Amino acid sequence: MNEWWRSAVVYQIYPRSFQDSNGDGIGDLEGVRRRLDYLTDLGVGAIWLSPFYPSPMADFGYDVSDYCGVDPMFGTLDDFDRLLTDLHDRDMKLIIDWVPNHTSERHPWFVESRSSRDNPRRDWYTWVDPKPDGTPPNNWRSQFGGGAWQWDEHTGQYYLHSFLAAQPDLNWRNPEVEAAMLDTLRFWLERGVDGFRMDVVAFIMKDPDLCDDPEPPTEELPRSREHPDVHAVFRRIRAVLEEYDPPRFSIGEIYEPNWQRWASYYGGELDELTMPFNFSLLHSPWNARVFRNLVDGCDIAVPPGAWPNYVLGNHDEVRLATRYGSSAARGAAMLLLSLRGTPTLYYGDELGMEEVDISPEDQQDPWGRQMPGMGRDGCRTPMEWNTNPNAGFTTASPWLRVADGWEARNVASQGETSTLAFYRHMLALRKVTPALVMGEYRSLDAPDDCFAFERCHSSERLAVVVNFGGEDRRVDIPGTLLLSTMLDRKGPAEHLDLRPHEGVIVRL
Ligand code: GLC
Ligand code: CA
Repeated sequence: MNEWWRSAVVYQIYPRSFQDSNGDGIGDLEGVRRRLDYLTDLGVGAIWLSPFYPSPMADFGYDVSDYCGVDPMFGTLDDFDRLLTDLHDRDMKLIIDWVPNHTSERHPWFVESRSSRDNPRRDWYTWVDPKPDGTPPNNWRSQFGGGAWQWDEHTGQYYLHSFLAAQPDLNWRNPEVEAAMLDTLRFWLERGVDGFRMDVVAFIMKDPDLCDDPEPPTEELPRSREHPDVHAVFRRIRAVLEEYDPPRFSIGEIYEPNWQRWASYYGGELDELTMPFNFSLLHSPWNARVFRNLVDGCDIAVPPGAWPNYVLGNHDEVRLATRYGSSAARGAAMLLLSLRGTPTLYYGDELGMEEVDISPEDQQDPWGRQMPGMGRDGCRTPMEWNTNPNAGFTTASPWLRVADGWEARNVASQGETSTLAFYRHMLALRKVTPALVMGEYRSLDAPDDCFAFERCHSSERLAVVVNFGGEDRRVDIPGTLLLSTMLDRKGPAEHLDLRPHEGVIVRL
């Protein structure tokens, strides 16, 4: 099977923060296009763009007011088409973000819906009467803190918002909503996009009786999301993606730690999402045993014929280099790029960018403003390109400050043994080593603090070993050392003494 998403490395771009092209301090689509040489050199096969749609930016674009346009802040539809053409000319794929669970409160659908109880679009969102005592209908919580129900004075009902009150949830049980949303997929598919990253996609179906969520949470499914009816909707979404040749790709944002439930989103007949994101490692401590269990668990859970995936960073999470420390982060990246499954990289992690402390008065993220300590600005700071002012990101004042230390840690200044050099070597090795991409996976017993596994494809056998600890560890794996995370050794070896946090790939 040669679907591109089995071998491609996906690179996530947060458009606000990648490259400003018009000097307003905010990254844009033309900026991304101007940086394609960088992505080609790095060797990624696809980019995933976080939302660029027209939006009041209450949640930086995850509050969409028009699914079929480009916010002027990010450019125009022409800029989008140019970017897509240039990507395709380079044989790269484009995955765009799709936000099906909620719109902006300023989306014309919601403006109509909230205008009166008998508006034809009233039922496009979830409106309910208060309980007799005036309180909300149930105990559902907003993911950003507080209750999930917003009182609307004008029409005397509550509406549901699983995220900000400015992000009302669409009612996917209304067939008109489903039809309209599937058409938004077609709009972009007609323009040529290769796939979608689907934002909180299992939230779209909830308990129709609006029963309370179990409190505290239990093993049971919550009521406010992941209702089993979501599977039928996923099959209809899949059918739209299969109207195109080759069928288009989907990866769903679903935080589901239960492997069986997680795997169910591939669909019993592999007819739902191409893959649900696997966030297990992203939420795991840096521990060899824990990693081995999670990877073994995932590899077993993935249905036959389906394909796994791994990710270690995104625009919602503390930066990789800060979670694990900068030397461990390289070992983690080696794992991400050598496990069996599609890897997704987050922009800037290849430079070793760290979480930035944004002071309370400079907080941009609404979550951080609403709940101190929860802000996600720290992982969204501008990409660091060179030693020009603002690291070459913008000629103006950037929307978020550039992280300290950028003068040394930027694309242009990274040397031969840098983190960026390591990523480039690692991606290049994948390209010439089918076992690293397609090979079977089997974990191996290894010394304490080490996670080791094999990847085998026809006659090629590789071992990957990462030392999670702070002490040297000897591994008896004779073979040819192809790559060390430290980039300072190579060649035949009878055994290897792994230095603290070192990772190696050995041909057996
Ligand atoms: C997803 C996005 C996040 C956003 C939320 C609401 O979790 O990754 O950035 O705030 O959905 O759309
Ligand atoms: Ca700009």
